[in-house]
Amino acid sequence: MTEGKTAPAEGSISYPNKSVIVRMEDGIAWVSLNRPEKRNAINPAIVFEMNEVLDNLEADDSCRVVVITGSGDAFSAGQDLKEYFREPDAGPPVLRERLHKANAQWQWRRLMHFSKPTIAMVNGWCFGGGFTPLVSCDLAIAADEAIFGLSEINWGIIPGGNVTRAVVQTMNHRDSMFYIMTGRTFDGKKAAQMGLVNESVPLAQLREHTRALALELLGKNPTVLRACKQAVRSVQGMSWETSDDYLFAKGHQARFLDPEGGRNQGMKQFLDEKSFRPGLGGYKRDE
Ligand code: ACO
Repeated sequence: MTEGKTAPAEGSISYPNKSVIVRMEDGIAWVSLNRPEKRNAINPAIVFEMNEVLDNLEADDSCRVVVITGSGDAFSAGQDLKEYFREPDAGPPVLRERLHKANAQWQWRRLMHFSKPTIAMVNGWCFGGGFTPLVSCDLAIAADEAIFGLSEINWGIIPGGNVTRAVVQTMNHRDSMFYIMTGRTFDGKKAAQMGLVNESVPLAQLREHTRALALELLGKNPTVLRACKQAVRSVQGMSWETSDDYLFAKGHQARFLDPEGGRNQGMKQFLDEKSFRPGLGGYKRDE
């Protein structure tokens, strides 16, 4: 094992050079970027392993929620300046482009359309390229103590790799401009206040808090949950007319694809059996 690497916990799935560790626990896949000695800076090894990990988890029925986090005291220090930028810059442009595409594949294309719920758990440093997977996850919880920064301006580049796109998707215009133009850092509380993450909690409670959220999602109907998240992503670029038609069709699709017949169950339990209140919780599912 490379010096400084975190040993995989018992029951974890390890990948060849262990730049990413996956630990499966009660249906939750805890995925850790694992270069703590480099603050989980995203190098080619992480890029290619993350693509493999996401492919495997999508096909793995024992995985029902994915949490993405980092080993040690960082979520991710962004792209690796040496291994992701300087070294590939010196090589053939075609390989540079291939790396860029592979990175885009896991950081937003794959994650944004992942068929299972995803949560980013920001445990510490989060810079530049770390923002793209953060925003691409459906939900995000940060430690109050986490430090975020769009540091690109500090070393002479613009926030590429779709970082700028991710930032304007979640933060308002003034905040996006301010943090992109100044490169100033902010903490988890500020990230929550700006809507970059759903909430922030003290670091000591972060894992348990994230686990409770993941378990809450595990209790929902997975077919309907998948349709809900697809719908949120899809309607953003639609007119009201198109969106109305899409949601009507999407609702029917979910209804007919749903093996547990959630819609009928919900109505029966509320209207006939009077055994639950949809406004206050979910219907009883047979699992
Ligand atoms: N790329 C390459 N190496 C990195 C990166 C990075 N993004 N971040 C940290 N490292 C390496 C350091 O070079 C150092 O390596 P070494 O031990 O071989 O010297 C090691 O990780 C530890 O870094 P330190 O700076 O010593 O750690 P510290 O805890 O003091 O600071 C911090 C952490 C604030 C994250 C600092 O490392 C830093 O500023 N990193 C760069 C953040 C950044 O600007 N990222 C790029 C964003 S732009 C983009 O992603 C496109």
